[in-house]
Amino acid sequence: MSVQLFDILRLKSKAEISELCRKIGISYDLLKYYNDNNILASSSELDAITSQTSVEKFEIMISMGIMSRELKNILAVNAERISHILIDDNAKKTSDTDDLKPELTTDYGSLYRADCMTVLKNTADNSVDVVFADPPFNLNKKYPSNMNDNLIEEEYLSWSEKWIDECIRILKPGGSFFLWNIPKWNTYLSDFLNQRLTFRHWITTDIKYSLPIQGRLYPSHYSLLYYCKGKKPNYFNSDRLPMEICPKCKGDLKDYGGYKDKMNPKGISMTDVWYDIPPVRHTKYKKRKGANELSIKLLDRILEMSSQPGDVVFDPFGGSGSTYLVAELKKRRWLGVEIGPVEDIIARFSDIESERPLLDKYRNGYNRLFTKEGLAERKKRGLWTNETFKKDQVLVLDLD
Ligand SMILES: C[S@@+](CC[C@H](N)C(=O)[O-])C[C@H]1O[C@@H](n2cnc3c(N)ncnc32)[C@H](O)[C@@H]1O
Repeated sequence: MSVQLFDILRLKSKAEISELCRKIGISYDLLKYYNDNNILASSSELDAITSQTSVEKFEIMISMGIMSRELKNILAVNAERISHILIDDNAKKTSDTDDLKPELTTDYGSLYRADCMTVLKNTADNSVDVVFADPPFNLNKKYPSNMNDNLIEEEYLSWSEKWIDECIRILKPGGSFFLWNIPKWNTYLSDFLNQRLTFRHWITTDIKYSLPIQGRLYPSHYSLLYYCKGKKPNYFNSDRLPMEICPKCKGDLKDYGGYKDKMNPKGISMTDVWYDIPPVRHTKYKKRKGANELSIKLLDRILEMSSQPGDVVFDPFGGSGSTYLVAELKKRRWLGVEIGPVEDIIARFSDIESERPLLDKYRNGYNRLFTKEGLAERKKRGLWTNETFKKDQVLVLDLD
C-alpha cells in the first residue's frame, strides 16, 4: 500500500496545491502527474518541497512505497528500532481452508474452483517443482469469472506480490518459477522476484497483444520471467530448434559460410527471444469463450525445459486449463485452480487425446537441424543437409 503525494503533503484543495507549485516553481500538471502515478519528484524538486512543507524526503519516499538503495541502507541500520514500532499485520491468518474439494481429479492432477490464495494456503512448503503463472494483466478484460481486471496499479501489484510470495513458499529448493505477463508489470515484479529467487532469464515472446495506440510503439511481446529457488535449478533441459530456411526456395536464410559441416545435427540453441509461439485467437481453436488462452506449444516448451515426468506443476490461474492439459499429456503431476467456471477445463480433459497430435507435432519439430519436410525438400533440391558431410568431418559446434 502507498499514500498519494498530496495526502503526504497534507494538501486538501486545488488552491493549496497551486500555491505549493508556485512556491517550488513547478507546474500544477507535473505535480498532479507525480501524485496520480506514484512517481517520485526529482531530487531538486524534493528539496524544494521539503523546504516549503517541512515534510522530509524519506517520509515522502516511505509513504509512497518507493525505495532507493540509500533508503534501504538507512532502514537496515535502524532495523531494530523500526521493527519495534511496526504493527505485525502478519498475525492475521485466514482460515478459509475448509470446503476445498477438487472439481476434477485425473491420473496426474487435481483442479479446484477457488481463489488461488486459498489453495496456496493449503499447500505444503517446498512441495512443487514448477510454478507457471499467467495471471490477469489488469487490462480491463472481461473474464468468465467477472473478476475485476481494472484495479488501481498499487492494488494489482500488491495482490501480485501476495500470490507470488505464496508460490515461492510452496516451490521446492531448486524448483523453477515462470511468470507470464506484459512487460509493464514484469518490470515491477522482477524487482520483487530478484529479492527472493535467482534470476535465470527474461524471455521475450513475440506475439502482438494489443492494438496500436498513437504516440506509442505497437505492443508486440509478452515477457516470460524465469527464476529458480536457490542457486541453480534442479532440472534444466532446453530444446534445440531447427535452422530457419526460406519457406519458398528452402535455401539457407543465414550465411553459415564454412561452418555448415559443423552444425549440430540436433539443431540451433534456443535463445531467450521466441518467435514461434502462435497466438490462440481463432474461436475455432479456443477451448473457452473470451480472452487469454495460451498455446500448448508454450507450455510444452516450458515444462520440457524445467521438469521431468512425475514432477509437480502448479498453475494458480487455470483459465482454459492449457497448463494442466499439457502436464497431464506429459505425465507431470499437477495442481490447478480457477476462480471462475471450470466446465471448459473439465470438457477439455474429457477429450484430452484430441490435443495429443498437435503436441506431438510440435515436439517432432525440435532437436533436429531441419524439420522432416524441410529436410526432404532440401534433398530434392540438392541443397546441403548434415548428411552431405562425411561423418568423420563433423565436429559439432553451437552456432546460431
Ligand atoms: C490469463 S487467464 C489464464 C489463461 C490460461 N493460462 C490459459 O492458457 O487458458 C487468467 C485466469 O485467472 C483467473 N483468476 C483470476 N484471479 C484468480 C484467483 N484469485 N484465483 C484463481 N484464478 C483466478 C481468471 O478467471 C482467468 O481465467
